[in-house]
Amino acid sequence: MNRLLPVMIGAALLGSAQARTLAEIKKAGVIRIGTNAEFKPFTYFEGLSMRGFEYDLGNAVASQLGVRAEWTSQPFDNLLISLNGDRFDLVISSHGITPERQKAVDFSTPHYCSGGVIVSRPGGPKTAAQLKGKTVATQVGTTYVGQIARVVGTKNVRTFPNNADALQALRAGRVDAMVNERFYSLEALKTAKGKLQQGDLLFQEKLGMAVAKGNSSLLKAVNGALKTVQGNGTYAKISKSYFGQDIRCR
Ligand code: ARG
Repeated sequence: MNRLLPVMIGAALLGSAQARTLAEIKKAGVIRIGTNAEFKPFTYFEGLSMRGFEYDLGNAVASQLGVRAEWTSQPFDNLLISLNGDRFDLVISSHGITPERQKAVDFSTPHYCSGGVIVSRPGGPKTAAQLKGKTVATQVGTTYVGQIARVVGTKNVRTFPNNADALQALRAGRVDAMVNERFYSLEALKTAKGKLQQGDLLFQEKLGMAVAKGNSSLLKAVNGALKTVQGNGTYAKISKSYFGQDIRCR
């Protein structure tokens, strides 16, 4: 099945839900932000508190808009459907900006640039060529699914609702490799303490925040807020605190 079919069906079914304009959000004093908070260091839980680069950045954007951010975590593959169903005003969950997704939602200017890397057990595949004929795990609904399929074929891709499950399958030897976000993978490698290795960057992408299709007042404000925080040192400070470097697109 086309990996974006659920998003497109969702958008078609729910596309009629009216997104809140910037004025309505400001009047309410709250912006509702959706994410999949099992993606350290982007959004994740530490005990009951949400944290992460995108969490801090989203809060900085909200504060530029003069509103408070109210965050909800849910499965990754539901986020854009919920956005078009007006459950959220904004989705910040490391979405790669793709033409297919752009049919269903509108994206901000990229809030960072990154890509998908290969992770395997020591001795396992590290390059695209070595992935041939191997089984590869990743999270369902992500851009990685299509990128992996291009290399190993659809039947060798194993998708999991959560990244933690994909990682577990790799560690347990049920798959040969995982492809996932570069910084997420670095974090996973730290935790694995030598039991996993990082391979090549399989592809690069630009990541953006999503608003409902046609919500131009909010999109403009979010882009303006991003520009402000990228110009005034806030972005660099947040990025360095999580990555030790500034990960904005250059
Ligand atoms: N960058 C990938 C994509 O656009 C994966 C994002 C996964 N994000 C998450 N919060 N789990 O599909």
